[in-house]
Amino acid sequence: MEIDIKYPRIIQGGMGINISNYHLASSVSMLGQQGTISGVTLERVLIRILQNGDLDGDIRRALSFFPFPKISEKILQKYFIEGGIKKLTPFKGVPFFSINPPASLIELVIAANFCMVWLAKEEHNNPVSINYLEKVSMPHIYAITGAMLAGVDFITMGAGIPIKIPPVIEAISKWETASYPIPVDDKDRKRFNHIMSFDPKSFLGEKPFEIKKPGFIPIISSNILAQKLLKELPVGDVYGFVVEEYFAGGHNAPPRNKIDYGEKDFVNYEKLAEMGLPFWIGGKYASPEKLEWALSIGAKGIQAGSIFALCEDSGMDIMIRRSLRRLGYNQELNVKTDFRVSPTDYPFKVAQLPETLSEENVYNSRERVCSQGGLIVLYEKENGSIGYRCPSEPIDKYLSKGGKIEETVGRGCLCNGLLSTAGLGDFGEPPIVTMGDETIFLKRLMLNERDWYGAREAIDYLLSF
Ligand SMILES: Cc1cc2nc3c(=O)[nH]c(=O)nc-3n(C[C@H](O)[C@H](O)[C@H](O)COP(=O)(O)O)c2cc1C
Repeated sequence: MEIDIKYPRIIQGGMGINISNYHLASSVSMLGQQGTISGVTLERVLIRILQNGDLDGDIRRALSFFPFPKISEKILQKYFIEGGIKKLTPFKGVPFFSINPPASLIELVIAANFCMVWLAKEEHNNPVSINYLEKVSMPHIYAITGAMLAGVDFITMGAGIPIKIPPVIEAISKWETASYPIPVDDKDRKRFNHIMSFDPKSFLGEKPFEIKKPGFIPIISSNILAQKLLKELPVGDVYGFVVEEYFAGGHNAPPRNKIDYGEKDFVNYEKLAEMGLPFWIGGKYASPEKLEWALSIGAKGIQAGSIFALCEDSGMDIMIRRSLRRLGYNQELNVKTDFRVSPTDYPFKVAQLPETLSEENVYNSRERVCSQGGLIVLYEKENGSIGYRCPSEPIDKYLSKGGKIEETVGRGCLCNGLLSTAGLGDFGEPPIVTMGDETIFLKRLMLNERDWYGAREAIDYLLSF
């Protein structure tokens, strides 16, 4: 089904890690709405799928279309395992990001972003978006290159102020050097920026074909941020906005008063509509009534996450998905806004589920280890060089890097926990599950607690007003 209206009524939200994978994004886009791939740590996702044997051959097919075949060959040689690795064998990893990442990591990030977008766009012409978290900033210049090489149509980005993204998009489309500022904490905890740059021509060679510029859709939760982006960026750099209210799954914007959410945390939609750009609203909007309301106040539609995370097309581990659906259907699912668990220091919604990090005994029995490094932040060492630390790494290690003890309290390892939720975790790493505050849609989509539904049923339901 081609999209016959100018704007989709539903944007399926980006959900990391690999919850909104290429299967989900492709299904949603083929159904005429806007599918979004999560762009979070795709290099890790790709190599784990390859080490699991790439059973349906999707990744190998996508790699065969990657315009730099020497890179595809290297990746396959290093990571693909026919039939998959033996149970309990640890996955081969990738190095942590740094301000000078090794060429092999850059290649992997570019290729992984290419493959996932390519697969989501395979066999249809409808738009597909990719979602990144601004705060996870070191991969941006490489990840966006890969996604643009596959012709991604939109980039959505929240968890930070993504004001420096449009120049990256511009540079990559011209195959010129792209730069991005990476925040570094100095010894007095004042921030300065280290600029990372990437010249695609010297790294990859000549531009392989024309590269189109995707539309840029910042994810915001205040009018002030929308105004700032429009004021400081050239006209046309922002395509539209997704507004995320604090009921949404994943990371949330911190409350204005730093303590609890209230009136001030809502966007004034009248003022936003006056800015004249299209916008979509997310966070507890997954119902036909809410979609109709969003349209009535000038939005082009909604962004929905949880309803898609729980459907059969999502990348969430099937057993976790079933438990969530059963609890949600019976209205027994408890989702807590945890102000401590995410090393990013943003509030993070955590579904309270047995055998996951939400349980105190599971949290306490996990060995504190930082083995993925997806959320490391940069700091200035005594000698002036740059170091890397994560508040959920082992406490003594974090303190030895100048971190403060209070920053470590209650932190969890989202990298490992979210990989496990996507069925791609290391052995013994407990999952952590994020969900939006509301799963009432399950009652309308399922006949009983064991029932299931797909992206098609979710979309039909949302459009049934
Ligand atoms: C499992 C899950 C993971 C999510 N991960 C991300 C993410 O990585 N980046 C992001 O911008 N939003 C993320 N979100 C938010 C969704 O994109 C969407 O905005 C939100 O879920 C909408 O609220 P709803 O869940 O009530 O529909 C996530 C949501 C869920 C449920």
